[in-house]
Amino acid sequence: MTRSGRTLGFVPTMGALHEGHLSLVRASKARCKVTAVSIFVNPLQFGPAEDLDRYPQNLERDAGLLEELGVELLFVPSVEEMYPAGATTYVLVEELSGRLDGASRPGHFRGVATVVAKLFEIVRPDCAFFGQKDAAQVAVLRKMVRDLDMDVEMVVCPTLREKDGLAMSSRNAYLTPEQRQAALVLHRALMRVQLAADQGERDPEKLLAIGKQVIAEEAAARLDYFAVVDPETLEPVKDLKRGALVAVAAYLGTTRLIDNILLT
Ligand code: PAJ
Repeated sequence: MTRSGRTLGFVPTMGALHEGHLSLVRASKARCKVTAVSIFVNPLQFGPAEDLDRYPQNLERDAGLLEELGVELLFVPSVEEMYPAGATTYVLVEELSGRLDGASRPGHFRGVATVVAKLFEIVRPDCAFFGQKDAAQVAVLRKMVRDLDMDVEMVVCPTLREKDGLAMSSRNAYLTPEQRQAALVLHRALMRVQLAADQGERDPEKLLAIGKQVIAEEAAARLDYFAVVDPETLEPVKDLKRGALVAVAAYLGTTRLIDNILLT
């Protein structure tokens, strides 16, 4: 609750806002009296060879979009404000942080958990809104909130997609027109897996093989991982149930994209 007894909703972002981000803002506006958004490109969650230096930024445009939506609070801290010299405290959600994206991006989820814990402490929201698009991030942050008894309700919103199925992402801006076309293979592979499951395939290994095969057929895409896991533990599922998380990550050139579905 805010001091005046009103609920405060919070949407942490790294900016370069698209409809996916805005859907979280709308969800917060619908549910909470006051909505706060943060824009902070968090250096701690980028690896040394990653895209921190070229991550898209357009604060003026972002601020305009948020104002149009009626966001009451916009928090745009500097790196120095968030990480004062000499800071040595981190939040590490062990085990989970090494799975899926955490396996390909060492240190990534330590950076995410640390910055989100700090943002929660600064903003003190009642509810925080995250996208299902980043399914492993959701698992890590839910666990952090439980393990540290944080008094925040986690609200997870569905993945917003372009008309052709590509999951919206700030990183889509890096793609050449050819890569943009090839990037559809992520969604296509997930849809093929869902179809096979609908048709009765219950063996996670077979579903994985089907998904990987679709990715292999797109020469411009290089698979990072394809996984069928429990959405909470991110561990491979042996007996397929509804709600299993099917997640994929692939490179288009140097751009790494992720997508996922929860099997219905
Ligand atoms: P960022 O990539 O900017 O995403 C901010 C929020 O928007 C995340 O919760 C993400 O899951 C959500 N989001 C991104 N694309 C989406 C889509 N297509 N549909 C629905 N939601 C989408 O995720 C981060 O920033 C950072 O790791 C952060 C949590 C801010 C910590 O630095």
